[in-house]
Amino acid sequence: MNNLGPLAQQAVVRADRERRNGHRTLLIWLTGLSGSGKSTLAQSMEQVLHHRGFLTYVLDGDTVRNGLCADLGFSYEDRTENIRRVGEVAKLMVDAGVIVLAAFISPLAKDRQRVREIMPEGSFFEVFCNSSLQVCEQRDVKGLYKKARAGTIAEFTGISSVYEAPTGPELVLSTGTASVEVCVEQLLHSVLPLLDHTATAVAG
Ligand code: ADX
Repeated sequence: MNNLGPLAQQAVVRADRERRNGHRTLLIWLTGLSGSGKSTLAQSMEQVLHHRGFLTYVLDGDTVRNGLCADLGFSYEDRTENIRRVGEVAKLMVDAGVIVLAAFISPLAKDRQRVREIMPEGSFFEVFCNSSLQVCEQRDVKGLYKKARAGTIAEFTGISSVYEAPTGPELVLSTGTASVEVCVEQLLHSVLPLLDHTATAVAG
């Protein structure tokens, strides 16, 4: 006799965790220029989901680059490696049952495509935070555009480094013109059905 429970059963998998948590998981990938509102949207969306009882986590360029990716800069090679690492971390977190909101410029289509490909089918939801360079530059929350124009920051996205806008994202949000509330509402409307684990048959 023991009190360990059914150890002879199969390993715990994502579907088991989703059933336990009461919702499915997803990687919500926010891409767009610096200042396009990715982080604000990710944080606001997390607040709404969290208060509704969902397990969530925000992965953000500015925080990840202080730790996991502190050794990386902004060359294309380093950005590719940044997105590769974040993609792998997000994949693990989604498998662990957490809804991940990833806010990264992720300027190269091939890098975003690679993250899409490593994720299980239907687990990658790409959101293009569509704000014109003009609006982002006007906002210039961190003062980086000014520095980029002055030439004191090299390889700055939109100024001296490319941004490849998504051609087939799951959702486009007009983050340059619409309010945060409206964008959160639109994103919520799109993802809530995907998080409903009663909508699709989960084994057991
Ligand atoms: S990414 O291109 O590799 O996806 P990431 O999202 O992690 O970039 O980091 C972007 C943030 O780094 C920007 O919001 C900005 O605060 C800062 N940053 C510093 N230098 C640059 C640069 N040259 N280009 C873009 N962002 C930069």
